[in-house]
Amino acid sequence: MQYFAASGAPHKQSNGCLIAGVYNKNKLSDAAAAADKASKGAISALAKAGDLPSAVGGTTLIRDIKGVDASRILLVGLGDKNKLDLVTWRKACAAAARVLGSTGATSALSYLAAEFPGDDADRAVRLHVAELVAARYRFDELKSGKKAPAPKLKRFGFGVATRAQANKAKAAAAQGAAIAAGTELAKDLANRPANVCTPTHLANQAKAMAKSYKSVSVQVLNEAQLRKLKMGSMLSVTNGSDEPAKMIVLQYKGAPAKEKPFALVGKGITFDSGGISIKPAAAMDEMKYDMGGAASVLGTFRSVAELKLPINLVGVVPACENMPSGRATKPGDIVTSMSGRTIEILNTDAEGRLILCDALTYVQRFKPRAVIDIATLTGACVIALGAHYSGLMSPHDELATQLSDAGERAGDGAWRLPVSEEYLPQLKSNFADIANVGGRAAGAITAGVFLSQFTKDLNWAHLDIAGSAWIGGDKKGATGRPVPLLTQYLIDQA
Ligand code: BES
Ligand code: ZN
Ligand code: MN
Repeated sequence: MQYFAASGAPHKQSNGCLIAGVYNKNKLSDAAAAADKASKGAISALAKAGDLPSAVGGTTLIRDIKGVDASRILLVGLGDKNKLDLVTWRKACAAAARVLGSTGATSALSYLAAEFPGDDADRAVRLHVAELVAARYRFDELKSGKKAPAPKLKRFGFGVATRAQANKAKAAAAQGAAIAAGTELAKDLANRPANVCTPTHLANQAKAMAKSYKSVSVQVLNEAQLRKLKMGSMLSVTNGSDEPAKMIVLQYKGAPAKEKPFALVGKGITFDSGGISIKPAAAMDEMKYDMGGAASVLGTFRSVAELKLPINLVGVVPACENMPSGRATKPGDIVTSMSGRTIEILNTDAEGRLILCDALTYVQRFKPRAVIDIATLTGACVIALGAHYSGLMSPHDELATQLSDAGERAGDGAWRLPVSEEYLPQLKSNFADIANVGGRAAGAITAGVFLSQFTKDLNWAHLDIAGSAWIGGDKKGATGRPVPLLTQYLIDQA
């Protein structure tokens, strides 16, 4: 998609489609009013006939309007002007993108960003791009037979008032496109089933990324190398699997080598059966998404490389399956992590923290300025926060605030939960230094507290994305979250 911005009068833009908002009670946005005037009342006539969309996300498409150069006008309902908020505005953008995609228009110019409920014009453009790209997303690489035809829309523009605003809007659109490209990569990886998206596949995807961006390099550690590093905790998870485990180490260089990197650590369980503590059959297919954290690391690397951000970034992705077998780890087994701490594995289904603790120990060698781990870690987080917010845990107030602010601005929220040592007694083991589960109470938090025991020397935060990384039901699919949050955070820090 090519993005552009135009500062002329709305009716003077010869595009395939002009997109303009209308509020309820037939109140027209400025762009819609301009088109109405130029057409000598074509839109007022619709209003009179009761044909304007009134609900948020309702649309009316009209063609060949005299006095308006665009071949179509797509009128998009924005509801009650006083009640328009971020959520409803995005819903309207998504509806506009959907309907636009069903037309033959090859180019379009939208004035919806001008109706954004807030005063950050760049943010409006970025989010508008995100909704456009999301509406066009398909995952049909594994369907046989006729695929959906390639989308016709090739150029998408933003209508603004001045030349200066046009330059800013174009730059913001490029940022939005980079974030969207990373989000799409994360969706593709997570949507792929576990028989395709294995640890080796993730490693190959990382290698492919290093091929396409000169700024990115990758190293893949195999099991022999993990044994040498004494990652006994990570290796205990892959015991039951026939797929070889991998630790993928990505590096992005956008700043001088002496500058300390940011680091992202992503849980890459390509299938979580639970192991010997096996999960119930219902919805077990969704555990192919248990590499959503890994997908978001690769996705964020893509966004950052596209944006050429002037930072250094390290990505560490421990990747393996969690399977039952005669060789699988058993409840009660005690393993020694890379940090030297011993762990009693009371439940083999609490495997995410077991691979993450070794990855978090490993990442310390890069002396990162900040480390963020991202993991579909606990069902308890889904119960606490549902799908709207990721769980955010960090003992460091500044980092936590930076992340939740970035999430807010990127429309990819995270809500903070405490990682207080008061919860540590729940992880007490009679036989090892720590247990890998802490009982039913505060399950998302005790998982975070477990990780905090391996990150004492780091400026660290943990994102539990168990609820936000995919949606279930008949629209089942990966969301690509929290790539927008992570990329926004790195943009802010750059
Ligand atoms: N991958 C799951 C967490 C999960 C569950 C994500 C449901 C999304 C939806 C994780 O490995 C897990 O199984 N966690 C256990 C931990 C428990 C045994 C302490 C859980 O949440 O039940
Ligand atoms: Zn898991
Ligand atoms: Mn599990």
